[in-house]
Amino acid sequence: MTKFAARMISSGVVIVAMAGAVLTAQTATTQKPFEPKVGQSGKDVVWVPTPQATVDAMLDMAKLTKSDFLIDLGSGDGITVITAAKRGARAMGIEFNPDMVALAQKNAKEAGMTERATFTQGDFFKTDFSKANVLTMFLLPSLNERLRPLILDMKPGTRVVTNTFRMGSGDDEWKPTDEKRVDPCESSWCTAILYIVPAKVEGTWTVGSDTMTLTQKFQMVSGTWGNAPITGELTGYDISLSGGGRQYTGRVSEDGKMMKGENWTATRK
Ligand SMILES: C[S@@+](CC[C@H](N)C(=O)[O-])C[C@H]1O[C@@H](n2cnc3c(N)ncnc32)[C@H](O)[C@@H]1O
Repeated sequence: MTKFAARMISSGVVIVAMAGAVLTAQTATTQKPFEPKVGQSGKDVVWVPTPQATVDAMLDMAKLTKSDFLIDLGSGDGITVITAAKRGARAMGIEFNPDMVALAQKNAKEAGMTERATFTQGDFFKTDFSKANVLTMFLLPSLNERLRPLILDMKPGTRVVTNTFRMGSGDDEWKPTDEKRVDPCESSWCTAILYIVPAKVEGTWTVGSDTMTLTQKFQMVSGTWGNAPITGELTGYDISLSGGGRQYTGRVSEDGKMMKGENWTATRK
């Protein structure tokens, strides 16, 4: 081999080595692990994690069991979904930010929970969450209100627990069934608020020879039974009514066409 050829080969090796080094450095830069930052922007709301103590209080309040399927809307780093999975429930997070989805999947893997804790990338306004029977969220009040019609169409009895923010306000508030502030609390985000999706009973019913007419606002009902005014409240499918000095409790059928108590049955007209 001539000296010239040897120099060419060795400089070629140097060039290839240098190119390799540049490529490695570039890859290292692009593969720098994603670091979430509290307050980072999100599609409709920034990311702020729910403190672990609040997550625990939310799942306690929902009375989460192993047979439940929980969905967390805007699941962030996965803390609620993974905690639910650790309690034996199946749980899924819907999160718009793909980096947060990857982070939550990594956290689930590290916790050994990948079988029960899953995450999907998407917009919670466009992703079907109706299969959940426990719904959790830490979103702004305006988002809660936009989601409210979809939530009210979920199966009656679905438990919905929010961190801190309510479902509407003033006259348009869906009144919570339970509310508890975690104490001590490491941040401001420490209030678990429970809602239970009510069955739909608005309309006209036949009860024996009487007509009962009900209007409904969230879980609260009012109307008339015969000529007597009546008020009531729903907890999922369970209904309690009072009027004319009497109390009636019963259950709404799954198809919403019948209500039945110990001494009374109402059928939709
Ligand atoms: C306040 S953080 C709550 C995170 C988590 N649920 C928790 O409690 O720790 C809200 C999350 O919703 C996500 N997000 C915002 N808008 C969204 C949308 N339209 N669809 C899905 N995720 C969204 C954000 O990226 C952020 O991770």
